[in-house]
Amino acid sequence: MKICCIGAGYVGGPTMAMIALKCHDITVTVVDMNAARIAAWNSGTLPIFEPGLDDVVKQARGRNLFFSTDVAGQIKQADIIFVAVNTPTKTYGVGAGRAADLRYIESVARTIAEHAETGKIIVEKSTIPVKTADAIKTIVASNSKGLKFSVLSNPEFLAEGTAVADLLNPDRVLIGGERTPEGEKAMATLAGVYARWVPRDRIITTNLWSSELSKLVANAFLAQRISSINSISALCEATGADVDEVANAIGKDSRIGPKFLKSSVGFGGSCFQKDILNLTYLCESFGLPEVAAYWTSVVGINDWQKQRFAARIVKELFNTVADKKIAVLGFAFKKDTNDTRESAAINVVRDLLAEHAKVSVYDPKVPAEEIRRDVLGKPSTGSGQEATDNPRLTVAKDAYEACAGAHAIAIVTEWDEFKTLDYAKIFAGMPKPACLFDGRNIVDLAALRKIGFKASGIGKPPGGRREGDVA
Ligand code: NAD
Ligand code: UGA
Repeated sequence: MKICCIGAGYVGGPTMAMIALKCHDITVTVVDMNAARIAAWNSGTLPIFEPGLDDVVKQARGRNLFFSTDVAGQIKQADIIFVAVNTPTKTYGVGAGRAADLRYIESVARTIAEHAETGKIIVEKSTIPVKTADAIKTIVASNSKGLKFSVLSNPEFLAEGTAVADLLNPDRVLIGGERTPEGEKAMATLAGVYARWVPRDRIITTNLWSSELSKLVANAFLAQRISSINSISALCEATGADVDEVANAIGKDSRIGPKFLKSSVGFGGSCFQKDILNLTYLCESFGLPEVAAYWTSVVGINDWQKQRFAARIVKELFNTVADKKIAVLGFAFKKDTNDTRESAAINVVRDLLAEHAKVSVYDPKVPAEEIRRDVLGKPSTGSGQEATDNPRLTVAKDAYEACAGAHAIAIVTEWDEFKTLDYAKIFAGMPKPACLFDGRNIVDLAALRKIGFKASGIGKPPGGRREGDVA
C-alpha cells in the first residue's frame, strides 16, 4: 500500500511519521509545495519542535517514510491520499474573520482530479466545516477520466507538545464515511491501517457529517473549559479564592474531571479560536444565531483574559509602564512547542508596547525573527517607517538577560525552566518594587514574596495572609 499526505505541517508530518513507524509495509510520502519545509523534514533539524518526534522520523525516514515536493507524482502512485493542508480563518470576502478559508483544500482536490490515474481513497485530515466532503467529492468527480474516489473524514486530535504520545496512544481514532458498500470498504481499509497499533474499540466509525462536526465540537468543548475556568479566575482575584483550589475541588467530581481546568493568560494555538469561529459561522449559516452567540462568548472571554493580564501589569506598575523594562518569559502558545500561532504572548507584548514599555522577550524554542514578525507584522515594502523597526522590543538569549534591570517579569508560557530559575539572583538585578506576574501559575508565589517580589498569579489571592487561611 502507498500513502501520500499533502501538507507537511504540524499534523501531516507527525501523523505520517507515526503511520510509517507502525506500518513497515506501507510506503508513506509526505508532500508539500513549501520546498524549504520539505528540505527541513529531510534534514537533521526538523521544521517543528515536538518531543520524541526526531526519534520517530529517524527510525522511519528513508525506509518507508519520505518527504517530497513532487505532489503530482505522489498523487499518481498513492492508494490513500491524506489531506492535511492548513484551513485558516478567512480574512476576506463573505465570512471574513470567522469562516474557514477552504482555498487550499479546494486546490488540493483539483490537483488530485488532474493527476490521479486510478481511483483513490481521499482522507480529510484537516479540520474543516461540515459538508466539506461534499465539495471535495464534487470536484474530484469532475475528473475527465471517469475515476471513482471515496472521501473519508479522519480528523486529528493530537495536541502540540504531546503529539507523539497522542499519536501512539490516542483516546480514539474517528473515521467518517458514506454508509454505502464503497464507503464502508474505504473506512475498513483506513481502520486497518490504524488497527496496527490502536485497539479496535478505540477506532470509531460514523457518518461523514458526524465526523466532520465532532472535530469542531471537541475543540469547542476543550476551549470552553478553559474560558470557564478563566472567567472564574477573575472572580477568585476579586474574592480571595484560589483558582487552582477551585479547579481541584470541582475536578474531583468525576462528572467534571480534572483535565483542561488550568487557568491561564488565555488559550492560544492555531485551532481553538479558528475552529470555534468556524462553528459559529456554521451555526449562523444554518439559522441558529443563539447557538452561535453561546460559542462566540468562549472566544470573547479568552480575548478579555489576555487583555486583563496586560492591563493588570500596567495597573500594578502605578498605571504607567512607559520606558519601563518588562521581561516576557515565553512566547510559544504552550510549552514544548515552537509554534506561536495565536499565542497569548503576541497580545500581551503588543499591549505593553502600546503603553510604551520596553519589552524583552525570551523563549527557549522560538527564534528572535519569529517573535519580531509575530508582534510587529511582516516588514512592509512601502515607504515610511517599517513595522519591524520598534526599538522597544528586544529578544533576549536567556531568561536572566530578559529580566536584568526589568521592573516586572511576566510569565506567559509555562516552560519548565521558568520554575527553577534563580529568582533571588534575578531579584537582585531588578529596580524595586520588583514585580512578577505569573500568567500560568507555575511558580511558588509565597517563595517569591519571601525573596521580596510583588508576585501575583492568575486567579490567586493577593499577597500576605488570606481570609480563610489557617493561622
Ligand atoms: P500547517 O500550516 O503547519 O501545515 C499545512 C501545510 O500544508 C503547509 O506546509 C502548506 O505549505 C501545505 N499546503 C497548503 N496547500 C498546499 C497545496 N495545495 N499543496 C501542497 N501543500 C500545501 O498546518 P497544521 O497545523 O499542520 O494544520 C493542518 C490542518 O490540521 C488544519 O486544518 C488544522 O486545523 C488541523 N489540525 C491541526 C492541529 C495542530 O496541532 N496544529 C491538530 C489537529 C488538527
Ligand atoms: C488542541 C486540542 O487539545 C487537540 O485535541 C486538537 O487536535 C488541536 O487543538 C487542534 O485541533 O489543533 P493544541 O492547541 O495543540 O491542541 O494544544 P492544547 O493543549 O489544547 O492547548 C491549547 C491552548 O490552551 C494552549 O495555549 C494552552 O496553554 C491552553 N490551555 C490548555 C490552558 O490555558 N489551560 C488548560 O487547562 C489547557
